Amino acid sequence: MGIRKIVEIGDETLRKHCKPQEKFDRRLHILLKDMADTMYKAEGVGLAAPQVGILRRVAVVDITEDHSGRLELVNPEIVERDGSQTGREGCLSLPGRQGVVTRPMKVKVKYQDRNGDAYELETEGFEARAICHELDHLDGTLYIDVMDRELSEEEIKGHIPEDDAQ
Ligand code: NI
Repeated sequence: MGIRKIVEIGDETLRKHCKPQEKFDRRLHILLKDMADTMYKAEGVGLAAPQVGILRRVAVVDITEDHSGRLELVNPEIVERDGSQTGREGCLSLPGRQGVVTRPMKVKVKYQDRNGDAYELETEGFEARAICHELDHLDGTLYIDVMDRELSEEEIKGHIPEDDAQ
């Protein structure tokens, strides 16, 4: 397993605009595997390449508990958004913090896979939220930039009104 170091807030890498991934080579495949291993070890549901210090448009998402739903998103782009959802969100680069963030309820995302083949995915709910969060990272945006409010320590551990809408 190639566990990479996750950079945390304060590191300028998180604020950079990532470049398109142009080569679909072994190096990309290793990056994707390492990013998935790193995400699973940290018990996250998504990880973007800048979070491991790589300024390329690459992200992994897996919202399942049994790691059966991995998405590898290379050069992803949201092409349609519909509805809205308001709920809690955290980030592996901001450990111990959470905020309430409003995101589209449904998204359509175009992306390439590890071989450069093009796909389109329509998804909703928590997976749509995770994709929006990871794609923001590729443009140097963190959830704290777009959140409605930050949660207190008690709210992170407990129930908040926004949970009922999920
Ligand atoms: Ni994040």
